[in-house]
Amino acid sequence: MNPFTIGTLQAETLGPSLGIFIKDLNPNKPLTEEQVKDLTEAVDEHHLVLLKSSESIIPERHIELTKHLGEAWTYGYTEGQYKEYPEIFKVSNQRGKGFVNAGQAWHSDGSIYNKAMHLSIFAVQVIPGDGASTFFTSLLKALDRMPPEMLEKLKRTDADYGKQYRPHPVVWEHPVTGKQVLHISEGIKAKFMNQATGEHYSTQESREIDDFLHALLWEEGTFYEHKWQTGDLLIGDNYAIAHYAKPSNSNTLRVLHRTATKGVNRRKVM
Ligand SMILES: [Fe+2]
Repeated sequence: MNPFTIGTLQAETLGPSLGIFIKDLNPNKPLTEEQVKDLTEAVDEHHLVLLKSSESIIPERHIELTKHLGEAWTYGYTEGQYKEYPEIFKVSNQRGKGFVNAGQAWHSDGSIYNKAMHLSIFAVQVIPGDGASTFFTSLLKALDRMPPEMLEKLKRTDADYGKQYRPHPVVWEHPVTGKQVLHISEGIKAKFMNQATGEHYSTQESREIDDFLHALLWEEGTFYEHKWQTGDLLIGDNYAIAHYAKPSNSNTLRVLHRTATKGVNRRKVM
């Protein structure tokens, strides 16, 4: 598990491929200034950070922690959500108890918006009988596994999600680290296009890119499956990590709370 420290915090690696677990920070308790500083550093460096409490994270602490890490995203009220907590997006497997069937494809939250969400902060509330899992993968390391010719092509490619959004570069610069990173949203299919000319690729060519990226992100040993336990809170950097909610076959309730921090425009790789 490879223990190490980040400032005052005790950490260990989470999965074989990405993420860390900070062992001595209880997300159900108020954080000190020093803990906030060290946690921010941990997120910027490792992009996926697990915190644990012995009990489910209460909304007030979840929102407070989110505001320590950035400007909280807020949602207009819809059925199944919380009127009193506009910062919390409730995800569920049952209608009327939150947004259903969210995220069952590789994506970063808010990835089609012109300004990406920066951090998503997930706190499990109810775990169904057969368990609940979310897969995470690194969008930085994904670039290292690409054949050079495909990487060069994707660097010159934009993803078009329709009229209300600006086309997004498929490879862009992480705003904090400056490193090149892949952008993907499998749930909402993009039309790929030549960045320089604005011409769309053929349906066949777009499909080949989709299939290539799908296979790349499911390569054995490259992703981490988080099996949720009561009291878990995961911070994911949407600029660097994609996630995939494993569908549940259970009829019993699953509830996850998600908050997010606001992000920036995607910068093209020069
Ligand atoms: Fe998501």
